[in-house]
Amino acid sequence: MALIDLDITIERGRIPDSIDKFLHEANLRTEDYLNHSRVRPGSFVPSDFVVAYYALKAVIEKNLAPGRLFCEWGSGFGVVASLASQLGFDACGIEIEETLVDAARDLADAHYLDVEFAQGSYIPEGADEASGGDHDREGFVWDVEGNDAYDELQIGPDEFDVVFCYPWPSEEEATGRLFDYCASEGALLLTYTQLDDVRIRRKEGDPEDLY
Ligand SMILES: C[S@@+](CC[C@H](N)C(=O)[O-])C[C@H]1O[C@@H](n2cnc3c(N)ncnc32)[C@H](O)[C@@H]1O
Repeated sequence: MALIDLDITIERGRIPDSIDKFLHEANLRTEDYLNHSRVRPGSFVPSDFVVAYYALKAVIEKNLAPGRLFCEWGSGFGVVASLASQLGFDACGIEIEETLVDAARDLADAHYLDVEFAQGSYIPEGADEASGGDHDREGFVWDVEGNDAYDELQIGPDEFDVVFCYPWPSEEEATGRLFDYCASEGALLLTYTQLDDVRIRRKEGDPEDLY
C-alpha cells in the first residue's frame, strides 16, 4: 500500500465565533438547497462540517501536511474548502454540478473568503482506469472523468498538499487509489466516512510499483 493511515487523535475544542457564524450560514443555505432544489439522487450529501473542521485543524496543529495547497474533491457547497481557507490553506474545490459551484462561490463571497471553485470532474483524464479498472467499478457511482477543471484552476492534481473528499462508502477505496495515482508523495487524503469521522491517509512510496 502506498497510502498509509495516520493514527492521530482529533481533538475538539471551542469553535471560534467567526467559524461558528460561517457554519450557521452554511447549514442554512445547504438545508435550503436540499429542501428546494432538484438534487440528483446519489449526488450531493453534505458531510459533518464540524468534524471536517477539527480534522483540518489537527492537520495544521500537528504539522502533518507538506504544504498549504488544499482541494476539496466534489466540493458541493464548498464548505470544507471555505473552512480550509479560514484555517490558512490556499483552498479550492472541484464540483461537477454547476448549481453547486455557484452556491459555493456565493457562500465564500458572502464571507469574503478567497476560495476558487472550478466546475468539472476531479478525476483527471486517464486516471479512472489507472486507479482501479473496470473490474473495480462495480457498484460505484462516481461521475466520469474528462474535462478541464484542473486547467481552469491552473493547478495539477499532483500539486495539492491536502485533498478532502466525501465519497460514497463503495467509492472509499477507489478514491484512495485515485489519490495514490495522481497525488504527489507526502500529500494527505482526508476522507469523510460513514462513521462520522475523517480518515487521514498519507501517500508514501512509488505508485509505479502498484500498477
Ligand atoms: C457526498 S457530496 C459531498 C459534498 C461536500 N464535499 C461536503 O463534504 O459537503 C459529493 C459531491 O461530489 C460531487 N461529485 C461527484 N462526482 C464528482 C466528480 N467526478 N467530480 C467533481 N464532483 C463530483 C457531487 O456532485 C457532490 O456534490
